[in-house]
Amino acid sequence: MYSNIRAAVVGSINMDLILNMEKVPQAGENLLGTHYGYANGGKGANQAIGLSRLGAKTKLIGKVANDANGQKLLKNLTNNNVDISDVSISGSQTGLAAIILDGEGRNRIVVYEGANAEIDPSEAADCIKDDLDLLLVQFETREEVVISAVNRAVEKGITTVVDCGPAKKIALEEMQGITIITPNESETKALTGIFPDNEETILEASKILLRRSKARYAVLKLGERGCSVWDGESLKMLPAYPSKVVDTTAAGDCFTAAMALEFMRSGDMIAACEMGNRAGSIAVSRMGAEASMPTVNEITKQ
Ligand code: ATP
Ligand code: RIB
Repeated sequence: MYSNIRAAVVGSINMDLILNMEKVPQAGENLLGTHYGYANGGKGANQAIGLSRLGAKTKLIGKVANDANGQKLLKNLTNNNVDISDVSISGSQTGLAAIILDGEGRNRIVVYEGANAEIDPSEAADCIKDDLDLLLVQFETREEVVISAVNRAVEKGITTVVDCGPAKKIALEEMQGITIITPNESETKALTGIFPDNEETILEASKILLRRSKARYAVLKLGERGCSVWDGESLKMLPAYPSKVVDTTAAGDCFTAAMALEFMRSGDMIAACEMGNRAGSIAVSRMGAEASMPTVNEITKQ
C-alpha cells in the first residue's frame, strides 16, 4: 500500500527505561514499582520504524554513541528494515528516556539527549536528497537541526511533516512552507499559548500554527478525543477509535507515521487522519514505544 513511498526521518534514537507503578511519587516520596524493562525508543526511531512497518522505504538520519545501547538500537532499526547509513556513531552516550508509567497507562518522561544533541545541522540537511518523497521531523533534536532539515526538504519540494514533540517553544517562522504541522495538546499549548480543550480553542490554536509556519494543514492530536484538521478554511474533528489503554507512549509517533503515509498515498487529509487515529488506537493498547507500531494488516483487521 505504501511501498512506493521513499521517506526519511531526522530525529532522536533513545533507549527507553520503563518503570511501571500504580501511583507516581510526589517530591520527597519513595514508592515501590511493579515492573521495569528496557525498550527501543526515541521519537525519530519510533517514527522511522512506524513508517517502515507500514511498508515505506525508510531511512533515519540521527546519531548514537558507540556504546551497548547504541549498538542494540542500530541492530533493531536494521531488523525493522530502516536504512541506518545516515545514522552517525560518535558522541558521549546514546540517548536515554526514563519513562514512569502509572496504573492507567499514563506516562511521565525524562530524556537524557546524549548523542541526539550532537547531530550536526548541516550534515543532517545534506542527507536529504532529491530521491525522497517525504520527510518527518520532531523536536527531540536541537532546534537548528530541525530547521535546517525542514528548509532543505521544502527547497527540494519534499512533503514535510513536523511533529512538535516534545513540547518546546520553537521558531516556527524559521520553517516556512511545511506541509503538515502536528502537535499534541501540551505541544499546542507550548507553541500557541492555547490549550486545545474545545472546538473554539482548537480552531484558535490551529490558526496560529498555520499563520506562524505557513503549513498547509494543522493536525492536532487530542489523545482519547482523536484529532482535528484545519486547512485554513474548515475545521474537522475526527473521533478516536475505541481502545483499551495499556501504555500511551509513542501513540503520537505512531499517529504521525500512519497519517503521513496515507496523506502521501491518497492526498486526502481526512483519510490520512482516520488512518492516524486507527494506528494511534492500536499504539495505546500495547506496552512500549516501538512495539506500538502496527503493520497495515493489523490496521485493516481492526
Ligand atoms: P505520546 O504519549 O506518544 O506523547 P501524544 O501525546 O503525542 O502521545 P496523543 O494525542 O496522546 O499523542 O495520541 C495520539 C493519537 O493516538 C490520538 O490522536 C488518537 O488517535 C490516539 N489515541 C490516543 N489516546 C487514545 C485513547 N485513549 N483511545 C484511542 N485512541 C487514542
Ligand atoms: O514519543 C515516545 C518517545 O519519547 C519514547 O520512545 C522516548 O524515547 C521519548 O523520547
